[in-house]
Amino acid sequence: MSFLNPFTRPSRGGAAWFHTGPASSYPNILDDIRVGERRLCNNEHVPGCKVFHVPREDSSLATEIAIDDWKDPESGGNARDQVMVFQYKGKFIAINHECPHSSYPLSNGTPFDIEDFGVTLSSGISCPKHEWSFDLHTGKGDRGSYKLQVWEVQLRPSTSDGGEEREEMDVWVRRKQRIG
Ligand code: FES
Repeated sequence: MSFLNPFTRPSRGGAAWFHTGPASSYPNILDDIRVGERRLCNNEHVPGCKVFHVPREDSSLATEIAIDDWKDPESGGNARDQVMVFQYKGKFIAINHECPHSSYPLSNGTPFDIEDFGVTLSSGISCPKHEWSFDLHTGKGDRGSYKLQVWEVQLRPSTSDGGEEREEMDVWVRRKQRIG
């Protein structure tokens, strides 16, 4: 007889981890211009973030959306059930693509350091629509009780088709679990 251990059981449905590509496919954003802007990465100019549509019922069916579709966010579509993944100053971040205030796509937002008397405490993103800001790690907004959903990120060794580990790391993401 075998028993499933609830602590090791892989999460399924909307809480499943999904692969968002090798770490080396993300430019390391060191500036404070729009996240989705193209930057040099592996001798190519690529968008500063990747955006995925992630079905609530099954995250493993996540699909990448072309970032260029968001250059003109007024032109249609919405950012619901989408996550944007990017690297800011060496740290991988995954957050809801839609601004919690009024759903503007945050790939148009600008990242910044949250500082106090010259000491960097955290990092944030500023939404250009109404200039509200959100902490990229806690999701806390600078106005009202609006909170940005922050997703979990893991870096895992890449494996070849034969299952062998390589030196490269892959970026995996999932919706944050609610506890209790
Ligand atoms: S939509 Fe982002 S601050 Fe209003």
